[in-house]
Amino acid sequence: MTAVLVVDGTGRGHAICDLMTRTNPAVTVYYGPGCDVIGDERVVPVPSIAFDDPGTALAFLRTTPVEFVLVGNIDALSRGYVDVLRAHGHQVIGPARAAAELEASKERGKLFCDRHGVPVPAYGVFTDPQEARSHIRSRPYTCVVKTDGLTVDGDGSIVCETTGEAEAAVERFAREHGDDFRVVVEERLRGTEISIFALIGGDEYLMFPSAVDFKRALDGDSGKNCDGMGSVAPHPADSPALRERVRAAILDPFVRGLRRDGLDYSGFVYIGAMLTDAGPVVIEVNARFGDSEAEVVLPSVHSDFVALCRSVLAGGLGRQRLITDDLVRCSVALTQGCLDPLDPDALPGWPFGAFAQGQPVSGLEDVDVAFYANLRRDAAGVPVTCGGRVLHVVGAGHGYREARENAYRQVRRVSFPGMRHRDDIAIGLVPSGTGEKAPTLAGNVPSR
Ligand code: AMP
Ligand code: GLY
Repeated sequence: MTAVLVVDGTGRGHAICDLMTRTNPAVTVYYGPGCDVIGDERVVPVPSIAFDDPGTALAFLRTTPVEFVLVGNIDALSRGYVDVLRAHGHQVIGPARAAAELEASKERGKLFCDRHGVPVPAYGVFTDPQEARSHIRSRPYTCVVKTDGLTVDGDGSIVCETTGEAEAAVERFAREHGDDFRVVVEERLRGTEISIFALIGGDEYLMFPSAVDFKRALDGDSGKNCDGMGSVAPHPADSPALRERVRAAILDPFVRGLRRDGLDYSGFVYIGAMLTDAGPVVIEVNARFGDSEAEVVLPSVHSDFVALCRSVLAGGLGRQRLITDDLVRCSVALTQGCLDPLDPDALPGWPFGAFAQGQPVSGLEDVDVAFYANLRRDAAGVPVTCGGRVLHVVGAGHGYREARENAYRQVRRVSFPGMRHRDDIAIGLVPSGTGEKAPTLAGNVPSR
């Protein structure tokens, strides 16, 4: 028997805990702060653990020793959780504070890639809104404007169609950030987006299946970017040849760059890239697994994940093989929307503004696979909503059609006041007519 601590929350954290208990019969996972609605006796919530205070984890570990700690939440990582826990003698998986900066500062992530030969779009970094605007006007291409630091709902990037829109984005960030204004302005790329994942240990890494993330808030890939409304894995462009290209162009130089810069990085990296005619180009670096990609990628993994974590800590990850099944999975995020769209005074709901949390959620027991995000038990023991993305329902199948149908069949079993979701996750990947074929790629995957 062994015990580990996972410091995370949301659907990703649940998916990591599930991977551990599903692939290792001997592990108990303490999950902090975790979620008290998960009904697995080997996943034990630790609500006293707070992302903004590693001391809370140290206090827990004093009374409950574990074999290792995995930190998966970017707020915790960028506050130096890994550094603090290691300094107290714990075995920890996750990037140290300086390495987590690759996500916490978009400028830092871009500079790192650029210096180590990982392809990125043309970009500039600005602290003066005037200079940012004149740069935008001088570009022969349309731009994406990104505020440098972390944002609450993943809406820190504005993908623009015109120069005017890009200038307006600069204005918005200048208004919101005042003296702390700092933006990256980069070339807007066209192509197919892909979420790439690897588990890193020392100089070695293990590539995980890639995925499609549906980041836009509304159907038809419209509305603003948010943390994500659903995912599909594997990515339709996945092939041995693409994996080799991704390794050679992105992951190999990325991991070499970590060593050269002396960055202390272990655990997952999530790289968002655009597949362009000139090859894959990195548009975002994240120092943790994607959420909601974790919910469709990790259930496909059948290797003993606790054993993989031991290889991350002790070395030898390169000798491990990742065993995955060949099912397609589709996840749909159920979010806390507006309670009454006809009432002009009702809160708009996530991700458009404030939302009325505390809504009772029913039907969870009828869902086959779901990963819980912002869901807690109230004083009476009833599961209630406590944030924007409430849970992620996952369907599996032998093709995109079956996975999508299974996901939406389960969506219909859950209900709560103000429940909102996208209706079109994976729809562009399902071929018309009967019988499922591998989708052709062009135009199928959102590129905005
Ligand atoms: P980020 O905030 O960097 O994670 O970007 C959020 C989303 O904005 C990405 O998933 C893309 O959909 C889009 N995006 C970011 N950068 C670019 C780019 N250079 N070209 C096109 N789309 C982009
Ligand atoms: N899938 C979006 C994110 O994890 O940021």
